[in-house]
Amino acid sequence: MCGIVGYIGDKEKKEILLDGLQELVYRGYDSAGIAIIENRQLRNFKAVGRLKNLREKTKDYESIDFGVSIGHTRWATHGKPTELNAHPHMGTYSFVVHNGIIENYQELKKELQSKGINFLSQTDTETIVHLFEKYNNINGNPWEAFTKTIDKLDGAYATLLITEADEKSIFFAKHGSPMLIGFKDDEIFFASSDTPIIGKATEVYYLEDGEYGYAKDGKVTLFDENGEKSFTKQPLATDKAMAQKDGYRFFMEKEIYEQSHVMNDTMMGRLLEDKIDFEELDEKLFENITNIKICACGTSYHSALTGAYLLERVAKIPCQVEIASEFRYKEPLLQKNTLFITISQSGETADTLEALKMAKRAGLKSLSICNVDNSSIVRESDSAILTRAGIEKGVASTKAFATQTMVLWMLTLYVAQIKKSISSEKLLEELDAMRHTPKSLLVTDRVHSKMNRLSKRYLHGHGFFFIGRDLFFPLALEGALKLKEISYLHAEGYPAGEMKHGPIALADSELFTIALMPKTLHYDKIKSNVEELCARDTTVLAISSEPFELADDFIKTTYDSHPMLEFFEMMVVTQLLALEISIRLGNDVDMPRNLAKSVTVE
Ligand code: M6R
Repeated sequence: MCGIVGYIGDKEKKEILLDGLQELVYRGYDSAGIAIIENRQLRNFKAVGRLKNLREKTKDYESIDFGVSIGHTRWATHGKPTELNAHPHMGTYSFVVHNGIIENYQELKKELQSKGINFLSQTDTETIVHLFEKYNNINGNPWEAFTKTIDKLDGAYATLLITEADEKSIFFAKHGSPMLIGFKDDEIFFASSDTPIIGKATEVYYLEDGEYGYAKDGKVTLFDENGEKSFTKQPLATDKAMAQKDGYRFFMEKEIYEQSHVMNDTMMGRLLEDKIDFEELDEKLFENITNIKICACGTSYHSALTGAYLLERVAKIPCQVEIASEFRYKEPLLQKNTLFITISQSGETADTLEALKMAKRAGLKSLSICNVDNSSIVRESDSAILTRAGIEKGVASTKAFATQTMVLWMLTLYVAQIKKSISSEKLLEELDAMRHTPKSLLVTDRVHSKMNRLSKRYLHGHGFFFIGRDLFFPLALEGALKLKEISYLHAEGYPAGEMKHGPIALADSELFTIALMPKTLHYDKIKSNVEELCARDTTVLAISSEPFELADDFIKTTYDSHPMLEFFEMMVVTQLLALEISIRLGNDVDMPRNLAKSVTVE
């Protein structure tokens, strides 16, 4: 995810910006840049890859007089990670940095291009600076030009703009993406989160959506839709480690809360009005392909299983899923009409990587679904779709699972479009449901506080069964994995219909069953399975949008129109359950014992 910093003052600006950007690298990035106006001189540096490349490029540059400055770390969304696509983006005499999405950028870009304006990058951001200069060239009033510009933007964004037309100001606006302003005497700082300014500023103001304004002469003038407004600064935290977690107790908790937001990034530019488009894929990849095999480990294996249900049901293409460590040694029969998909958060999992190499040696076409660009798995694959979840720090994967599953849902529709195995009405229905996903992932106070209260009842017993059917079986597996990883309690995911074939022998009041009961998929079937467990005195926590009287505990979900929306909403509930149980047990949620984030050995 992109990160923004800004500074006005008379300290060495280059260093303040580079230090600030360093604090944002944990969000993930693939290029970075800075722009500074000092003594009427505008300077700009950009570099692809690590921040040290930008440091190297700027090593002979000094900016020790008074000036204004902005910086950015970019996580590629529109356009590849190149220097031209890196921020700050340049007009003729102004620079802009931006985090978020300008949804109507294509329309704005066309309009500007028709007036002869030349675009250098493939980004949505560049439209901001050209629009600003267009208005400023007409009326010669930079502030008015900036307000007119942001009036034109649709979407979610946080942006900073500097211009030679007003070389003592930074213009800013926030709508949906995070941004704050730091203060110390006459110095003013901007950043996407606290950490870049801790130790530099003493007070902070967290901008609200819809606020915009300018910083000049040690003062910030703030506006919203009702005009100019006053604001109250607050003391800035001093603990960086705490600030990186944005106030959450653990990275895993933060990442659960982030899911709704990052899903917009995952869908951006891919979920279109009437179809799914993957700019990174060539339809030729699917030529002569009659079936799909997916290989992955752990959580990524669970998203693969979910994807297989979708691919077979909606895209009508046979799909098999294999655990990578099993696949490697089973002497699999591989056929050239199989598309080989690997799924991995890190892109470095040894078993998955080896499985991919085997498939390539057998001449199969390959596609990876991955969160880390340029990782070994991405480099080894013929094509890759990035999940765009941003860096995931918690060892227990949450947002990576959510975004992998979303990519698989989108891929299903993409394949269905190519194979013409979906009617246009059904496609529109799916796309419409997809648009609701960010909402289904929102963590509400109601559910989180309920999970917190309930967690105290689930700390003992002789084990947990997470049960579900169909798409909700992989979710049950994932719910159980989350719980065992961070609570060290024994948990198993099971297809609900299989309980009577053995596991029900364990049923008693000390067996905890987490029942995933979606209204939109086989509700009556799962209901009977859960009733059978209730009859044997099992303690049941049911999750459903339909009231279920027999359950000991019940979490009511709100979505009941599409299985995937129920899926994502229930996924959040299971993640919160694992989190709250683990916290009560006093475990290290982010670094559970015996586990590593990236498993690069067999
Ligand atoms: O990076 P990968 O997705 O390839 O990692 C695979 C598994 O090691 C990973 O999903 C693991 O199961 C997580 N700890 C689950 O929370």
